Amino acid sequence: MKIVIANDHSAVALKQEICEYVKRLGHDVTDYGTNSTESSDYPVFGEKVGRAVAAKEFDCGILICGTGVGISMAANKVNGVRAAVCSDVTTARLVKEHNDANILAFGARIVGNELAKDMVKAYLEAEFAGGRHVRRIEMLKGIEERNK
Ligand code: RB5
Repeated sequence: MKIVIANDHSAVALKQEICEYVKRLGHDVTDYGTNSTESSDYPVFGEKVGRAVAAKEFDCGILICGTGVGISMAANKVNGVRAAVCSDVTTARLVKEHNDANILAFGARIVGNELAKDMVKAYLEAEFAGGRHVRRIEMLKGIEERNK
């Protein structure tokens, strides 16, 4: 899969470890930064990844900030993005199976590196289950349409 990843200053080391891990799993990773530990603004990175994923330049995205919340909020402002903040493996699987999440987000200050890698693996290996979930995804798109 083609995966895009980005983070703010709080998650540089974890992002680099996740990049290596995702490559080892056999995927192609594009890093939109930051690779600096100087203070940076998570909305910049959330929007960049959100726009690229919504434009289908990548199969999915990974976003990391301190909590995963701010950067996922930014991505979710882009129409077509379904970014999900996770801090356990089961949720990371279910957000793909049920919500067809196209971005996995997590917090470098919340989860350990091993848990982060397990979540990434679970998310990347999961598949959207379709069925009843399709209607709900269409309803999410309806919200976007009504609020353009
Ligand atoms: C940065 O200090 C921190 O606020 C940010 O990484 C993130 O946790 C926001 O949601």
